[in-house]
Order: sequence, then structure tokens, then C-alpha cells
Amino acid sequence: MTDPTPDAWRAVDRYFAETLVGHDPALESAVAAQSAAELPAIEVAPVNGKLLHLLAHIAGARRVLEIGTLGAYSTIWLARALPADGIVVTIEAEPRTAAVARENVDRAGVGDRVDIRLGRGEHVLPTLEGEEPFDLVFIDADKESNTIYLDWAARLGHPGTVVVVDNVGRGGDVADPHATRSDVVGTQRGLEMLGSDPRFDATALQTLDAKGWDGVAIAVVVRCGPATEA
Ligand code: DHB
Ligand code: MG
Repeated sequence: MTDPTPDAWRAVDRYFAETLVGHDPALESAVAAQSAAELPAIEVAPVNGKLLHLLAHIAGARRVLEIGTLGAYSTIWLARALPADGIVVTIEAEPRTAAVARENVDRAGVGDRVDIRLGRGEHVLPTLEGEEPFDLVFIDADKESNTIYLDWAARLGHPGTVVVVDNVGRGGDVADPHATRSDVVGTQRGLEMLGSDPRFDATALQTLDAKGWDGVAIAVVVRCGPATEA
């Protein structure tokens, strides 16, 4: 067996990406446009984008909610998994970032399946109440608000809604019980909620991919609506 050195796991990620994801001009231009706009290169790794795509497909999702659009890399992956009448509602706080995302989804040919809502998640999410429930929710914004976003995922979902939370490994820091960094603590509170809130059934996997050492939590909503007293 090869030792899991950084060179070795990067080689495995490249092998998986080349073998199973392949060359994808639309996604590569989205990343290039994001970089040209000087947005941070923190979109999900190709194998992770493909995971989101497959989960949406497996779930038979028609309505997807994404919290944190950035350059729409994951948005494009999700939109491609939807039927012609499907929609990704994606929330982005920064107008300049949303403009880059709009161009990217249009260039990728999925613009008719993407609805970008401008504003902070905590302000936009309550405005979605009363719409048809979402079949999949992808949480990938400020980690400090993960518990707020998870609460809304349960309120805006239905039993069976798939919930995915990005970046739950944080380079290993998530396992530190003395963590003080707000993003790490926010991630821990989100995972604790997934483990204890009766509205969710969840697990998490570590990831070693083009974006380094991190993780992804995957949950299903088993009971929707607001939290109830135990
Ligand atoms: C950060 C945020 C992300 O969503 C991500 O995938 C990687 C890094 C960050 O805020 O540093
Ligand atoms: Mg992320």
C-alpha cells in the first residue's frame, strides 16, 4: 500500500477526476471567469461537484436550494442534474459575485434552471417559506451560520429532502474540542445539530481532493418544519 502522503492522495484525486469526471469546458470557463473576477478559488473540487450532481440525480430532485453561490461552479453541477422544469434557487450575498455567477450559468447553458437570489442567507431564506419544498439543499456559505441554514433546510424541505454541508473537515480542525476559530466552531455546532436534532439523519465523510483535506456531511430530513421542544 502507498502511504497516504499529500503527493499520493493528490495523485488519486487526479486519477478519479480524470477517469470519472473528465474535461468539462463549461465548468472550466466558470472557474476561469471566477478567477478573472478575483473571487476566491474555493469552489468544490470536481469530484465533489460530481457528487452533488449524482445526489440530485439519485434523489430525483426538481427543486434544489443552494446557500452560497460564489461563481456558480456547484450551481452548474446541480442544475445539470435537473429535469427541464427543475430549478436551483441559489443565494448569494455579494452583487458582484452574483453577476459573475449569472454569466457563468448562462454560458454553461443552464441559465433557465438557475434563480439567483441576492442577499444574506438569513434574510433570503425566510422569503422562501410558502414556496414548493426543496428536494435537495446544499449549504456552502459562511460556516458560522450553519445551524441557521440547517434549520431552514428542515423548514423548507420535506421528509426525504437531501441536505449536504460542505467543508465539515476544515483541515482536521473540526475534531479539536478547544477550537476557537468561528468557522470551526460554526461547523462543529452544525454537525452537533445534525447528530442530535430529530429532524435529521446524517453522516459525514472526510475528503482529500483538489481542495485539500476537508469533508462533506450528508443528511436526510426525516421530519420537516421548525424545531419542536424535546
Ligand atoms: C472556505 C469556504 C468554502 O466554502 C470552501 O469550500 C473552502 C474554503 C473558506 O471560507 O475559507
Ligand atoms: Mg465550500
